[in-house]
Amino acid sequence: MSDLGRDYETSLDPKRRRRDGVHYTPRDVADELVERAFAAHRRTIASGAPFSVCDPTCGAGVFLLAAADALVAAGRTPFDALACLRGMDIDPDALEVARAELLGWAHVHGVEAGEQELPFDLFVGDALNDAWPEDGRLDVVVGNPPFGGQLAGATVRDESAVAGAARILGRPAGYTDTAGVLLVRALDAVRAGGSVVFVQPLSVLGSRDGAMVRDLVSDALESIWIPDDQLFDAAVSVCAPVLRKPTATESVADSQVIPTWTELAAEAMGVPSMRLNGAPLSSLADCTAGFRHEFYDVAAATVERGSAGSESADFPKLITVGLIDPAKLLWGTRAARIAGTTFAEPVVDVAKLSKPFELRKRPKLLVATQTRVIEAVADYDGMLWPSVPVISVLPHTDEAGTLDLLLAALIAPPASVWAARQAAGTARSPGAVRLSATQLEQLPLPTDRELWIKGSDQLRAGQLTTAVRTLTSAYGLSENEQTVVLEWWTLRSKRRKRQGKTAGL
Ligand SMILES: C[S@@+](CC[C@H](N)C(=O)[O-])C[C@H]1O[C@@H](n2cnc3c(N)ncnc32)[C@H](O)[C@@H]1O
Repeated sequence: MSDLGRDYETSLDPKRRRRDGVHYTPRDVADELVERAFAAHRRTIASGAPFSVCDPTCGAGVFLLAAADALVAAGRTPFDALACLRGMDIDPDALEVARAELLGWAHVHGVEAGEQELPFDLFVGDALNDAWPEDGRLDVVVGNPPFGGQLAGATVRDESAVAGAARILGRPAGYTDTAGVLLVRALDAVRAGGSVVFVQPLSVLGSRDGAMVRDLVSDALESIWIPDDQLFDAAVSVCAPVLRKPTATESVADSQVIPTWTELAAEAMGVPSMRLNGAPLSSLADCTAGFRHEFYDVAAATVERGSAGSESADFPKLITVGLIDPAKLLWGTRAARIAGTTFAEPVVDVAKLSKPFELRKRPKLLVATQTRVIEAVADYDGMLWPSVPVISVLPHTDEAGTLDLLLAALIAPPASVWAARQAAGTARSPGAVRLSATQLEQLPLPTDRELWIKGSDQLRAGQLTTAVRTLTSAYGLSENEQTVVLEWWTLRSKRRKRQGKTAGL
């Protein structure tokens, strides 16, 4: 984004910014996405043939500027590059900023035509309801559309958005994000063989609300771009599906296996690919996670250890996700925040619970979710109490050693890789692994029992680094796979961030 764009964005009333999803894109991100959008069109661009690139919610025009530079770099004259650009936005003032930016660009590039003769097109328009420039014939749509749920609102403007979205999707949009609706619309606006790269909330990859959008554009999905960091101040993790509208022959000959959104997301996030053949964890244990209502029940029964009566055996330690590290319990060394209250040593007064939840008092493993790698600890005497959403792994037998073996299987790097691949893009942020009890029951176990036991002994002896090596071998991977998996796990573990000293949910 340029200074002009930034100044304009910050001058807007925050309410208006929220309503119209105004979060302008950093220039380096626009460059990267334009590069991906142009990849399939290098030859046309180099040939000098007519070419059109549109950002239908262009704001101050950062994608148009990035496209102009990319076209010049590919051999077009500056005048010709400007002739390829189409921009639209609902905000006429933003378009004036975009116009000023393009005039400045033309000047810097020595384009001598007067303002009126410059060949780019900028339109004021509503991308949900109005025709787009060169609608249906565009070569490329690239941009960062507004995010948000304004489709669920009730003002006159929202009503027209709701109607426009329903027309685009061919059914009521429900909770579908505006950005998703515009992704579907963008695919409609390009010609067969045309490309779309449109920033989306990361949730489009896995959420139930994103399913309609995924269905409607899946045939065109080529890859997914996922950035490392938070790019926009909207505090939302983003991605950008890279779409190319199939041509008639491609649609007919479409017999190849289309990779799923999850597979492409895993690739974009650099999660190694491997095959695991072991029996599922459910052959040795069941997994369960508490429900939301249980969280509040338990929170109300949580007290500080040392308070009246709380030394008794009936007061198990309360364990939040933040109190679990790989094979290491942090209870008592780190404070925990539970329903707004900070506890140094939280314990549960079981007598105060509305239901007994006896299950929790069995020996088990406790597994955190939304962490960078799988983090789990063993509860040998059943005196740890999982706070929602911690998952409990309950072995089928009390046989000594089973708990240690299960812990070892979970701490093993291939388990984290497997989980990250299963649910790629569905966690709150790209760096987190989302786990559910049902999914964990499917986790393949190690195949080499001897190495599995050895790794489990090393883990019990506190030798985490040695144990993860042994356990990676226990999963029966090739040498090469082992190296890649270990590297991935080590990098992810190092970047495990614990901000502050309090561990909440
Ligand atoms: C996330 S900003 C991105 C702007 C620009 N593409 C960029 O990346 O810097 C979204 C833009 O969409 C515009 N907008 C919101 N609703 C719109 C609509 N229905 N039709 C066209 N533009 C819209 C806003 O005015 C804003 O400029």
